[in-house]
Amino acid sequence: MQRYPDKGAVIVTGAAQGIGRRLALGLAAEGIDVLIADWNAEKGEAVACEDAPGAGRRLFAQTDVADEESCRRAVAVATEAFGGVFGLVNNASIFSTLTMRPFWEIPGDEWDRVQAVNLKGVFNMTRAAREPLVASGEGAVVNIASSTILFGRANYAHYVSSKAGVLGLSRAMARELGPHGVRVNTLTPGPTFTEIERATVTPEQKAAMIEQQCLKRAGGPDDIADAIIFLLSRQARWVTGQLLNVDGGMVTH
Ligand SMILES: NC(=O)c1ccc[n+]([C@@H]2O[C@H](COP(=O)([O-])OP(=O)(O)OC[C@H]3O[C@@H](n4cnc5c(N)ncnc54)[C@H](O)[C@@H]3O)[C@@H](O)[C@H]2O)c1
Repeated sequence: MQRYPDKGAVIVTGAAQGIGRRLALGLAAEGIDVLIADWNAEKGEAVACEDAPGAGRRLFAQTDVADEESCRRAVAVATEAFGGVFGLVNNASIFSTLTMRPFWEIPGDEWDRVQAVNLKGVFNMTRAAREPLVASGEGAVVNIASSTILFGRANYAHYVSSKAGVLGLSRAMARELGPHGVRVNTLTPGPTFTEIERATVTPEQKAAMIEQQCLKRAGGPDDIADAIIFLLSRQARWVTGQLLNVDGGMVTH
């Protein structure tokens, strides 16, 4: 079976670095055209131009997922350049730049911005892409949450809440888009060590996280990207409204 539709692209938000970057390169390696939608123009352009194998074309569109009009522009760029959109991965997030602190010390405006990007960004982008996803006849949306919603990680309350919201939103959207042939799933990555150094994870904390996993190595962006690619593919054609936890068995869900 051919794994993907012949026509159309996948939009990956937050693909200028980390998991999103790895996913954009992985999709292109599978021959899929990708729109890299990220607010970071310098890094986003670099991913679009990066020397990497694969027949899939890569195009960058500067996008703020918290802004509805910006999302609509990104979708228009993808449909015009690639003739349609069959996949959307809502991966953009305020994450690696967050400072960890107890919930009573999180400034209110920081709480609001995290919800606006991490949760409303999923709402904005999926609304903007709905028509081409439906038109593709086999659209797939993958929303990236976090395994922290399954165990409630301390000192990240705004982040954990926003990602728990993504799970509820995904399930509701799966119900509403299913009758139109569009699948919507949530993927919860566990600790994933990308090219971005995070001051919030010390070597001792990293070792402690690995100790909690069934598989005793650090998770990397390829581990997550491959699972997302599965959910986008026809191999997952009967999977919708589900949560796929990808964390080396840190949480058995
Ligand atoms: N790395 C991990 O350990 C881990 C664990 C669980 C969940 N996740 C989730 O996986 C996803 C990717 O993680 P990562 O480690 O690659 O994150 P990251 O912080 O390295 O990258 C996030 C990307 O989102 C972009 N972005 C931020 N705000 C944006 C906005 N308003 N509009 C458009 N783009 C915006 C950033 O420019 C960046 O390219 C995120 O949703 C994150 O919450 C990551």
